[in-house]
Amino acid sequence: MHKKLFIPGPINVAPEIFEAMSQPMIGHRMKEYAELHGRVTSALKLLLNTDDRVFLATSSAFGVMEGAVRNLVKGRCANFCNGAFSDKWHDVTLRCGKEADAIKVPWGQPITAELVNTTLASGKYDSMTMIHNETSTGVMSPLPEIAEVMRKYPQVMFIVDTVSSISALPIPVKDLGINCCIFGVQKALALPPGLAVFTADEKAIARAKTVENRGYYFDFLEFVTNDDKNNTPSTPCISLIYGLDCQLKRIFAEGIETRWARHQQMAERTRNWAQEHGFGLFAPEGARSLTLTCAENHRDIDLATLKTRLADRGYAFDDGYGKIKGKTFRIAHMGDLQPAELEEFLTVLDGEL
Ligand SMILES: Cc1ncc(COP(=O)(O)O)c(C=O)c1O
Repeated sequence: MHKKLFIPGPINVAPEIFEAMSQPMIGHRMKEYAELHGRVTSALKLLLNTDDRVFLATSSAFGVMEGAVRNLVKGRCANFCNGAFSDKWHDVTLRCGKEADAIKVPWGQPITAELVNTTLASGKYDSMTMIHNETSTGVMSPLPEIAEVMRKYPQVMFIVDTVSSISALPIPVKDLGINCCIFGVQKALALPPGLAVFTADEKAIARAKTVENRGYYFDFLEFVTNDDKNNTPSTPCISLIYGLDCQLKRIFAEGIETRWARHQQMAERTRNWAQEHGFGLFAPEGARSLTLTCAENHRDIDLATLKTRLADRGYAFDDGYGKIKGKTFRIAHMGDLQPAELEEFLTVLDGEL
């Protein structure tokens, strides 16, 4: 039985997207691809509110997260860590042979502007990475406040993962001064996995020019050369790019502000549901994700059994990630999910509880 996904990614994909993806194949050096590529990157610039370059990479998000580190870290990187994916990004930075420090806060807490300020004031770093929305903990860090602090450190590359937040709220990449914004498409953008998107501003491209050992597959300069021809360095996942083309049209047809409001509404509804049912919220007020809710299992429910029972009813449920598995559970309300679908799931969950 197919299970409707309420896990925080991959998430449910609209049938129109699968339909768009089944268009006949084209060659990526044909003019049809250049047209598709140009249309998609232009729409992404609109979504991200930027005129920086936007690139399409055939990989999951971590491909580009690794690529960003290889291209942009020249000296030392501050990896801000507050959950599984940001912890992993530090590990990846080290595995790329870069000098880096993990600036850790406890899981469940946001990265704050103060922490960024005190860390970067040391003058030790030429790059920083952070995850806007830590999917493992349901914590959304205050990007505008952090961006304000980053203005004091123009020599530090501001590298931000927005995998599970993009399009759920305004993330104006240019205004925020993000040098490199990265996301995979299988979470907040509600597409099948396999495609990652990233931006690079002039500063990021200038930095990459001075960094050695950028590799090939994610070499930002290869992306620049090919972008000039509306193309990619290697054969891209053309079907997924057709899907993205379709999804961007759907997002603008819904209205971006309507999409933001829908996410806000579903987040509030899920947080209220959790609290009314005797669960806690793992993230503190003001740092709660708009795309998923990470609830604390205060009732000591056997989450593994709950997950199995929900699966039998046709719903995929997440019983926590990594070291907080079993102590927390996550309900995703991202992408194209509608409030009525969330209600349906909460009703089934009520029944099982
Ligand atoms: C915030 C965030 N960053 C990065 C990743 C890793 O993405 P991928 O598995 O697409 O490489 C995830 C995946 O769950 C994520 O939620």
